[in-house]
Amino acid sequence: MPALGVNIDHVATVRQARLTYEPDPVWAAVLAELGGADGITIHLREDRRHIQDHDLYTMKKTVQVKLNLEMAAEQEMTGIALAVRPDQVSLVPEKREELTTEGGLDVVANFERVKSCVVQLQEAGIEVSLFIDPDLDQIAASKNLGVHGVELHTGRYADAASAEEQQREYETLLRASQFTIEQGLKLHMGHGLTYRNVAKIAAIPNVSELNIGHSIISRAVLVGMEQAVREMKALVTV
Ligand code: PXP
Repeated sequence: MPALGVNIDHVATVRQARLTYEPDPVWAAVLAELGGADGITIHLREDRRHIQDHDLYTMKKTVQVKLNLEMAAEQEMTGIALAVRPDQVSLVPEKREELTTEGGLDVVANFERVKSCVVQLQEAGIEVSLFIDPDLDQIAASKNLGVHGVELHTGRYADAASAEEQQREYETLLRASQFTIEQGLKLHMGHGLTYRNVAKIAAIPNVSELNIGHSIISRAVLVGMEQAVREMKALVTV
């Protein structure tokens, strides 16, 4: 059974829309933990569009389950990770203008740059996972870097426009998963997973971690709406 890492970035997205203190992603992390999350995942982006440095520092003190920091493979972020020491760092590609992480990290093309971050993080005892496309060359390059595991990008499966295309992407993920395990790497998966499409991915043999964000936060907003309105209604009914 895979562990569930809950990505709470979008709680911070709502907070940053007003540059205020609520909703606090640290509170969301606590509630996610109470709900059974096996891990909390946050992405500290270069432009700090959602999670802020202080969120990361506070979560390091409060989160009791695995804290997984997603970040770009570059020196400023590596310095922050070395100071905070999350349980795991997931290295992701990052372009300022993208809405979310679009493709996987190109480990083959950026081998030396990624290696420099991996070595520093591992020397500090932080497990490193690389977010990559389900591509055998990328998996082999990740193995050569000596990382703990890889997170296979499930976005193409999630975004497939037809059942046939989804089945093709699923088979690609299945082959890549098998190869990942053969290489002795931990198998993580994530991106674009929803209440509708997750079951098939969760059933892939040996997948040890799923990271899911947007769909859970979207559901949380809606399942909480009725109660939130009822509470405000009680206050205005004087
Ligand atoms: N895994 C990685 C590496 C990501 O960058 C993201 C998005 O931040 C996720 C998982 C979660 O994706 P989603 O929000 O689509 O569930």
